[in-house]
Amino acid sequence: MKFFIDTANLEQIKEAQDMGILDGVTTNPSLMAKEGITGTDNIMKHYVNICNLVDGDVSAEVIATDYDGMVREGEALADLHDQIVVKLPMIKDGVKACKYFSDKGIKTNMTLVFSAGQALLAAKAGATYVSPFIGRLDDISTDGLNLIAEIRMIYDNYGFETEILAASVRHTMHVIDCAKLGADVMTGPLSSITGLLNHPLTNIGLEKFLADYKKGN
Ligand code: E4P
Repeated sequence: MKFFIDTANLEQIKEAQDMGILDGVTTNPSLMAKEGITGTDNIMKHYVNICNLVDGDVSAEVIATDYDGMVREGEALADLHDQIVVKLPMIKDGVKACKYFSDKGIKTNMTLVFSAGQALLAAKAGATYVSPFIGRLDDISTDGLNLIAEIRMIYDNYGFETEILAASVRHTMHVIDCAKLGADVMTGPLSSITGLLNHPLTNIGLEKFLADYKKGN
């Protein structure tokens, strides 16, 4: 499973990249605003900075909600760097724009996906990634992980190549459960990645090894 980090914070992206386990980055307008990155020019520059920090795909989201606007913005984003993936909302014009970019060989990420039907449309439109938001489904007492399982089954039934990018991952158990269910990618905050390190027996075991080494040296 690929690990993407879901942030526009350069320090956190660098920390994950330095661990050697990062495969890419996802961002959205809210994450950009959280870092105080505003205005089209600054946002575009920030995408390039992110691309220069990591080796993998970097999802950059369009703001337009009409087909022509999405195509215009998506082309400008794709021109920024060859690691950019155009992130499009799961609405009718977004599906149409997804098909346009797929036909041109430009990578896409269909975002704000909350149902198996939407994921089926994303695959039909040739999306590179589909982003089911599992945390936001959990927030409204709906089983987000069940959606990952449904999409996995549907995609496997027909050999769709669209990668399932489990998004809105909130914690380490989401990461582990997504891996069990066969998600291709997960994107979450840095804490959902570094949290995987934690086990008390590792710490206790390491302390004992070091103490025993010191006894003999
Ligand atoms: C996905 O690409 C989104 O940026 C993200 O995962 C949303 O997560 P949230 O529900 O924690 O805001």
